Amino acid sequence: MSKIKGFSKLSKTEKITWLAKHFLTSNPLDIAREFSSYMHSNAEMQKLFDGISENTLTNFYLPYGVAPNFVINGRTYVVPMVIEESSVVAAAAAGAKYWSDRGGFQAEVISTTKVGHVHFLWRGDADKLFHIFDTELKDALIAEVQHLTANMEARGGGLKSLELIDCTELEPEYFQLKATFETMDAMGANFINSVLEAFAEALTEEVKSHKAFTGAEKHVEVVMSILSNFTPECLVKAWVSCKVSELGAFPEAQLNAQQFARKFSTAVRIAKADPYRATTHNKGIFNGIDAVVLATGNDFRAIEACGHAFAARNGRYESLSECVVEGDTFTFSITVPLAVGTVGGLTKLHPLAKRSLEILGNPGAKELMMIIASVGLAQNFSAVRALVTSGIQKGHMKMHLTNILRHFGASDIEIQSATTYFADKTVSFSNVREYLQNYRANLAPEK
Ligand code: MEV
Repeated sequence: MSKIKGFSKLSKTEKITWLAKHFLTSNPLDIAREFSSYMHSNAEMQKLFDGISENTLTNFYLPYGVAPNFVINGRTYVVPMVIEESSVVAAAAAGAKYWSDRGGFQAEVISTTKVGHVHFLWRGDADKLFHIFDTELKDALIAEVQHLTANMEARGGGLKSLELIDCTELEPEYFQLKATFETMDAMGANFINSVLEAFAEALTEEVKSHKAFTGAEKHVEVVMSILSNFTPECLVKAWVSCKVSELGAFPEAQLNAQQFARKFSTAVRIAKADPYRATTHNKGIFNGIDAVVLATGNDFRAIEACGHAFAARNGRYESLSECVVEGDTFTFSITVPLAVGTVGGLTKLHPLAKRSLEILGNPGAKELMMIIASVGLAQNFSAVRALVTSGIQKGHMKMHLTNILRHFGASDIEIQSATTYFADKTVSFSNVREYLQNYRANLAPEK
């Protein structure tokens, strides 16, 4: 394997040429042509995309779609989604439409607190440290970050609390400064990390110069200062509810409304009880959540990491959604932490993220949390509905049909014909291959 020094300093063409020469078999010129075919026609726009990351060679396309008919708290949204899996947008749209006829989604933000820590080592009398923290240090630290928090405070947010935590039972000499924040419409990662680093510096200095500390006590060893992506107090709940009889019948599975409600709620309980099922169940939820998070320029890794940690908060990995059938009322809900922003980061920089927010009516962070949670719930509803009725493959493979056809190099006419043919048949890789072979053989001129 070829190694290289200073790769990032090469021009884009040099990078592609080097890559093609050492790792690809096609002609470097062809590779360069291929990569350049995915670049933006507007050079300024391409510069913007190049600048978002490092060592950029081209752009990687993903479909950008919308799911209409999302009625959330009485307002109708069209929700932009970026996702590579073929059936996700259709399933979200189907879930949205289904519930728009039954009162729509309700949602509420439970809390919006973000959190971060200065993790540090300190050797000395912990009681003394706590006493000085409570009487002097805490106020001094808060004053030292005032220049960083002032702007956020003017917007209604800022630092909410600062705590000293003894973690010596976890690790010798280990303490934390735990800070909580309100970051309003920003996801707030940069703000939080800047404040934490300032806390770390101030803590080191304050302890060093304080006359109550002597010898080793004067030395704070900061290990790291970083926000936590676990934000169980940045939480939103969304739910749908209707009379069981209003669920309608599911003839494809010969289920009436009551039987559907029972089977559906059992499936959700299984996802609460069994981590194997819970993981797939939640993956379905994140199909919807991630797609909106991406479309609005938010950080889907942070959202996923937090969502999964939250799903395991009771000591076992569980479903994020819950279904209750009480009397004749069916209620399906999700409670999920979503630390998202509608200002800062990529949200206004990426032209399509900006457009997504416009499509959503330029929501603030709280409204976006409610939209995203509702999409996750709609996605989950459609997936579990399919699972307990017709099975997942029917709809899934129907949506995947075009991908399989393209894999076999099908023309537009062949795709059209196959779509009609498979409308009432099972789609599988081999069925599609066989269909195409027959179709092509029948078209071939007779010898
Ligand atoms: C596929 O991407 C997602 C599902 O597996 C989710 C689920 O099983 O609930 C259909």
